[in-house]
Amino acid sequence: MANDYNQLNPAWGERSPVIIGLLCNWCSYRAADLAGTSRFGYPATLRDLRIMCTGRLDPTFVIKALREGADGVLVMGCHPGQCHYDAGNYKAMRRMALLRRTVIQLGVHPDRVQLAWASASQGTIFTEMVKNMTETIARLGPLNWQDTVSGETIQREMEAVRG
Ligand code: FES
Repeated sequence: MANDYNQLNPAWGERSPVIIGLLCNWCSYRAADLAGTSRFGYPATLRDLRIMCTGRLDPTFVIKALREGADGVLVMGCHPGQCHYDAGNYKAMRRMALLRRTVIQLGVHPDRVQLAWASASQGTIFTEMVKNMTETIARLGPLNWQDTVSGETIQREMEAVRG
C-alpha cells in the first residue's frame, strides 16, 4: 500500500511522520483520552507523553526528541489563565518562543515545534491540532536531524536553551 504522506512530500518513502506530544496532565492529556473514547479519528503520528504542566517543560526535551528521530514536537497545555499551577503555561509560552528561535538557528523549520491549548473537554480541538500538525510536518518532510547536525552542535544548543 502506498504511503499517503508521499503525496505531500515524496521524501517520506515508506515511513510516516513521528510527532512527540508533550501533554499537560490536567487538560490536553485528558482531551486526548476523550478523543480516544469518543472515537474521533486522527492520524497515528502522535506519541504522547504526559507532563504535569507545560511549565514543567524543559526545552531540552524538545531538542532531544528531534535529535532522536522525531519530525516534530507538539506541546499542549491548559488555556492561558487556566493552568492548575497558576502560570505554568505562560512560562511555557516564553520558553517555546525562545526554543523556536533556537531551532531556526539549527536549520529546523519552526513549525516543527508547536504549542497549543486544549481543555479536558476539548477532544475535537486536540484532534484538529494533531491533524493540522501532521499535515504541516508531512509537507515539510522527514527531519532526519541526527544525519544532518553534529552531536556537539546539539549539545551546545541544549546547554544554551537550558540557560
Ligand atoms: S496545569 Fe496544564 S498547563 Fe499548567
